Amino acid sequence: MSNTTNVSIGIIGAGWVAEHAHLPSFLSMEGVSIGAVYDTELSRAAHLAEQAGARACTSLSEIDQIPLDGVLVCTPNHTHYEIAKYFLQQGIHVLCEKPMTTTAEEAVSLRRIAEVSGAVLLMGFVNRYRDDIRELRSRITSGHIGDVQVCEVIWRRKKGIPRPGSWFTQQKLSGGGVLIDLGSHMIDQMLFLTDAPEPVACLAGLHSRPVQQGGYSNWLGSVESQTVEVEDTAIGMIQFANGMLGRIHVSWQDDVEGDAVEIHLKGNRGSMILRTLFGFSNQGLYKQPSLQFSRAGEDPEWFTFPPKTDVLIEFRRQAQHFVDCIRETKQPYITAGDGERVIRLIQLLYQSAHKGLVAT
Ligand SMILES: NC(=O)c1ccc[n+]([C@@H]2O[C@H](COP(=O)([O-])OP(=O)(O)OC[C@H]3O[C@@H](n4cnc5c(N)ncnc54)[C@H](O)[C@@H]3O)[C@@H](O)[C@H]2O)c1
Repeated sequence: MSNTTNVSIGIIGAGWVAEHAHLPSFLSMEGVSIGAVYDTELSRAAHLAEQAGARACTSLSEIDQIPLDGVLVCTPNHTHYEIAKYFLQQGIHVLCEKPMTTTAEEAVSLRRIAEVSGAVLLMGFVNRYRDDIRELRSRITSGHIGDVQVCEVIWRRKKGIPRPGSWFTQQKLSGGGVLIDLGSHMIDQMLFLTDAPEPVACLAGLHSRPVQQGGYSNWLGSVESQTVEVEDTAIGMIQFANGMLGRIHVSWQDDVEGDAVEIHLKGNRGSMILRTLFGFSNQGLYKQPSLQFSRAGEDPEWFTFPPKTDVLIEFRRQAQHFVDCIRETKQPYITAGDGERVIRLIQLLYQSAHKGLVAT
């Protein structure tokens, strides 16, 4: 496909992330059109299709009539496997929202299907395209802190359960709570930033409280019911085959002053701490991201990033990468294998939360 050929994209699941993050990102690109919007709810499909100048579909047989080069899968977690499989088997490229699937078995199967089909399966770990993460990764690979021996990834929200009572908080539809939701991004960061090998052991714990009232982050939408079946907080320790220790702490509702992401890395030559925030919260703890760098035994230096003015910058970069992969028939920067590794580790952490220490 040449660089000037139009790329036609289908949106599967016309919910929050499709409307507020993916659609504006794809619509801002030259030579890209939205061919179809498919949602099981006609009103949702029609609402987005109108904005996109696309056809609204409510069945797969309808969307099959429309020629598409790629699709974005942004439906509830438990549907990712069947939907991504359906399109990959037809050779249609897929950008799949996190988590890739809700079980490791499905993830292995989906990776194999993508390999056989030759179509691109780009995992939607969108935070990898952020400037602060790129800077952190670049400093690690250029040896600023030496070999990474400890990596702690933390994302804590003050009040941020996504729509309590909705599919996000129903075990069968989401595959879990905050660990599979925010944890998908954070485990991906841990593995990507450190080039971590296979895990050899892990220990995790889950915690839940009744839904806290009031002061909700505006972008999350309404409380659908007070019934939240899944954990709102998860803490886990992971030992990797090279001896590196990982720690994850994610929470949808926690006793913190504001929402924040922190990544702490300790190596044999120094350490780094990134203080930032992922996502769309309006309750951030830090005004702007900052990076603290310490050479072993010396005082720290600080590097401050400009405040983010384009909230969708990482979504635009992700959309551009997906289209480039389609046009140039190249393998994506974030692969199905990456998606599979993340869900395998999340599954181990859930097993540990129920059984105690898990050794692989
Ligand atoms: N990367 C990020 O920052 C980010 C942010 C939010 C959500 N997400 C992910 O995106 C996905 C969607 O999240 P959301 O917040 O947009 O959810 P949502 O509930 O707002 O939207 C989901 C949409 O999918 C539709 N749907 C349900 N089952 C379907 C099916 N079988 N076929 C077609 N459509 C179907 C629903 O009607 C709804 O319109 C989730 O996997 C979530 O984890 C990622």
